[in-house]
Amino acid sequence: MAAFTIPDTQKAWVIVRKGVPARALKLDDKYPVAKKLAKGEVLVRVQAAAFNPISYKMIGLLPNFVMRRPHVAEHDFAGVIVDANGTDLQKGQEVYGWIPIPTQFLSRQGALCEYARVPAQLMLPKPPNVKTTEAAGLGLVGATAYHALFQSAKLEPGQSIFVNGGSTAVGIVAIQMAKALGCTVGASASGKKEEFLRGLGVDRFVDYTKGPVYEQLAKDPPTPKYHVFLEAVGTADPLFYTCSGAYLAPGGTFVTVGPQPSTSGGYVGIAKLMLAIMTPRFLGGVKASWKLISVSNRPDEFQQLGKYVTNGKVKGVVDSVFAFEDVLKAYERVMEGRSTGKVVVRVDPSVE
Ligand SMILES: NC(=O)c1ccc[n+]([C@@H]2O[C@H](COP(=O)([O-])OP(=O)(O)OC[C@H]3O[C@@H](n4cnc5c(N)ncnc54)[C@H](OP(=O)(O)O)[C@@H]3O)[C@@H](O)[C@H]2O)c1
Repeated sequence: MAAFTIPDTQKAWVIVRKGVPARALKLDDKYPVAKKLAKGEVLVRVQAAAFNPISYKMIGLLPNFVMRRPHVAEHDFAGVIVDANGTDLQKGQEVYGWIPIPTQFLSRQGALCEYARVPAQLMLPKPPNVKTTEAAGLGLVGATAYHALFQSAKLEPGQSIFVNGGSTAVGIVAIQMAKALGCTVGASASGKKEEFLRGLGVDRFVDYTKGPVYEQLAKDPPTPKYHVFLEAVGTADPLFYTCSGAYLAPGGTFVTVGPQPSTSGGYVGIAKLMLAIMTPRFLGGVKASWKLISVSNRPDEFQQLGKYVTNGKVKGVVDSVFAFEDVLKAYERVMEGRSTGKVVVRVDPSVE
């Protein structure tokens, strides 16, 4: 067998300017492969990469000097270690992981390329029974869901949780983790996703197209009320929080992926939400505590995510798989906001 040599250049989708992906990204077939690795970093041959909505939002919002462009796009990947650089990982080992935004800025590395230089602590060994395309999308949303449930909300076995946006990639992982813990789970999505969410074990389904979720829950409140409300859509509608007394138990936690002005409620909704959060309880403020998730590199939590994946309690759900050349079509799918699970790109066409 011919010896494998790491090439000097590679194909990579590089963000070169602010704007919509079709204008902002360029397929560079001479992007340098990072050969110099810092202590703790490894070089991965990327086999599949997955998308997160945060990426196209930031590409469209922030100028080059803030984003330290050009750099390779996206965060989630699965692949094979080609230089273990003295870490605990092995050359030839299959891994999956993610590249946080600050790491992407500083290192210029991203997931939409053939070779990425990544700190070893941001990846986990891929179990052999998990497909590469399934593993590729688990890093960022897995880290987010784990932090939301266990650090922000301190969810305990046997408690109950409602996931607004049960079919978002974050929601799908959160539901699987909560069910693994023996929790009762309610979730919302549009009606066509009920069967999928029931298949994940969802006990109560709310179709958000039939009326505001907070109204439907308040009209028919759960008994007992939920311990945790995970807002996994990013809605800026303050009523999810201000009405939560009807469906969240006293002392319960409202945890959110972050209200976004582009969603229902807009900037006015965010302003009203901030006012509600700041109003003390003795002045009629909301009883539930409000927590904002910010996903970041937390190695101990990431290892815990790996246990859920290895023991089959969390499975990667794939919405669609695109060829590496079709990254712009994949972005169109992500930007529709209708995917069920991850939108994935096969960098190595031979992987499952
Ligand atoms: N704070 C953080 O650290 C952090 C980390 C990760 C993600 N996020 C944010 O979390 C949100 C979810 O990200 P994601 O990647 O998981 O999203 P995603 O997978 O792209 O979400 C797509 C899903 O959202 C559902 N959806 C859309 N509007 C809905 C609504 N009003 N109610 C219920 N479901 C709705 C769609 O279901 P239907 O087709 O049925 O509408 C679709 O299945 C995004 O806003 C993202 O930016 C934040």
